[in-house]
Amino acid sequence: MPDPIMRKPRIADAQAISDIINVFAAEKVMLPRTVDRICEGLRDFIITVDDGQVVGCCALQLWSDLAEIRSLAVKESHWRKGLGAGLVRQSLDEARDLGVEQVFTLTYQPEFFEKLGFERVSKDRFPQKIWADCANCSKFPNCDEVALAINLAP
Ligand SMILES: CC(C)(COP(=O)(O)OP(=O)(O)OC[C@H]1O[C@@H](n2cnc3c(N)ncnc32)[C@H](O)[C@@H]1OP(=O)(O)O)[C@@H](O)C(=O)NCCC(=O)NCCS
Repeated sequence: MPDPIMRKPRIADAQAISDIINVFAAEKVMLPRTVDRICEGLRDFIITVDDGQVVGCCALQLWSDLAEIRSLAVKESHWRKGLGAGLVRQSLDEARDLGVEQVFTLTYQPEFFEKLGFERVSKDRFPQKIWADCANCSKFPNCDEVALAINLAP
């Protein structure tokens, strides 16, 4: 069987992306995403496809001079095969190509991101507008996610 491949998604992939994310959203480790919302930001995503099925996704959202890794998820059947790391590395390459100097993420999996070179930072370091998303979260304002960031500047 061929190895899984990473590629940019098409509209037809939006339902599968939503399904993967919402499994983890039900476990309260990610924010839920509707198909409509995914379509709005579809160009931010990359996906991993194995045997014709979407098994992983990751989005890179730009916030002026910095970017956020969000909606990272790999189907549990495909964990620990390097797919999550591959998605993050690809998003970081995209960020570099765009001239972004710093990428951050908010996560319950800080050790995973630390292995990829991210470092823990204070959430206060990021502009207030970034937290606009948080106001809609059931955990706001008692968020226990960890903020991490990586510098891409040469
Ligand atoms: C976090 C997640 C994306 C990792 O995906 P994955 O494909 O299993 O990760 P990889 O196989 O690429 O792992 C890369 C490295 O991180 C390690 N790792 C993976 N998950 C880890 C975790 N939860 N905690 C610590 N280390 C982890 C792996 O062992 C591997 O280490 P190695 O390079 O020393 O071998 C996946 O577990 C997931 O989708 N979780 C649910 C959603 C979620 O929590 N998303 C996080 C962002 S909100």
